[in-house]
Amino acid sequence: MNQSKSNFTGQLGFVLAAAGSAVGVGNLWRFPYLAAKDGGGLFLLVYLVLVLTFGFTLLSSDIAIGRRTKMSAIYAYAEMHPKWKFLGILTFLVPVLIMTYYAVIGGWVTKYAVAYFTGDAKAAAGDSYFIDFITSPVADVTFALIFMAVTAVIVYNGVEEGIERVSKWMMPILLVMIIAIALFALTLNHTDESGNVRTGLQGLAAYLTPDIHDLTPGRFLQVLLDAMSQLFFSLSVSMGIMITYGSYVKPEVNLNRAVNQIEVFDTGVAFLAGMMIIPAVFVFAGTEGMSAGPSLMFISLPKVFDAMGPIGVIIGAVFFVMVIFATLTSCISVLESIVANCMVVFKAGRKKTTLVTSVIYLVASAVIALGYSIFYIEVKLPNGSVGQLLDIMDYISNSFMMPFISLLSCILIGWIVGPAFVTDEMEANGSPLRRKKLYNAMVRYIAPIMMAILFLQSTGLLNA
Ligand code: PHE
Repeated sequence: MNQSKSNFTGQLGFVLAAAGSAVGVGNLWRFPYLAAKDGGGLFLLVYLVLVLTFGFTLLSSDIAIGRRTKMSAIYAYAEMHPKWKFLGILTFLVPVLIMTYYAVIGGWVTKYAVAYFTGDAKAAAGDSYFIDFITSPVADVTFALIFMAVTAVIVYNGVEEGIERVSKWMMPILLVMIIAIALFALTLNHTDESGNVRTGLQGLAAYLTPDIHDLTPGRFLQVLLDAMSQLFFSLSVSMGIMITYGSYVKPEVNLNRAVNQIEVFDTGVAFLAGMMIIPAVFVFAGTEGMSAGPSLMFISLPKVFDAMGPIGVIIGAVFFVMVIFATLTSCISVLESIVANCMVVFKAGRKKTTLVTSVIYLVASAVIALGYSIFYIEVKLPNGSVGQLLDIMDYISNSFMMPFISLLSCILIGWIVGPAFVTDEMEANGSPLRRKKLYNAMVRYIAPIMMAILFLQSTGLLNA
């Protein structure tokens, strides 16, 4: 059952597509927020250590499983062990859930990009602009559908002609844009009403300096768990996406090097996002201005751009185009992993499968987008927050399923099929894997324990 006649052309195409999946709203709105909340440099250090250990382990596992089995999640796990097909199905369900809302977020980003290009920047900085937009059924649904349709067209065109082609120009441009805005943020300064001057460089210092005063073991555990859940989401691991992308990688590609490059790209962009957002927010709104999630990107940042004066319109426009690139390449990877699995399950071709799944997801995106108007509900989630449809989908897929899947997958690799299933594949092109001992220890002992703790914490069963 070899599903993948299509492949990435080579290492570069694969790395940029995988980085495209990894770099998304997680890097841009969650990483900076967590860094600000969790002691600046302290969070950065913890995150870096986790990238080199956990990130390396989980990303290597997914990609190697994909290339070795040449299958997407469902059949990849079935091939590793027939009794473990359930894990493949569970993994497949993560993108199935994420896809219902990712295009909705893409629609929001697109709406803001349009606003900055059509002279609406001032309005976008208004207090109720975001709420007014997401609660207006027609506008919110329209933008979500446009974003979903664009994603579908790219996936329809296939791995090489669609995904790789788009990633190969969007990702380098994204990198240039974020470096430019991050450097610009360092040049900012502002004097508030009481005469206090705040500069971008002070903001940078706040970002980089490890804040360890009143650091208790409990708080350190919280920082660790925050960094870990961020890492998962950010690398797009434990959701079958990297298994699918791995299945398109040619045998001669050096997987170890590719994993490193993807990690450097993803972590680099997250770091730059912090370097751009924390100083900018700090200068114009002080440290209280940092908020989590959508409100950072759609409420705080437009105000910051507005406070910059006329140049803020240009910065805002560049910023939101960059966010479109980040979100679109991630959205593509989510749809691709669904399509790849369905092609095998239903024994159908790419074009037909993409058409059918896209129609389903156009409807699903519309329903989720209407979760702020016609289908508005308030549900208390086990982690204590109150959410609408979008948050519920996000909670089930990210807080609940991903750590659980990761735990099971480490057990399968570490204890049932054995770590060599992955490490042999990492060395398949002939270059030795230097971190093999680390991989073995991580996948057998450390990762399962940490995943179990993370699962208990994010489901509210354990209060760290
Ligand atoms: N990795 C993406 C990010 O950091 C998020 C993502 C989640 C992408 C799920 C694809 C699938 O934002």
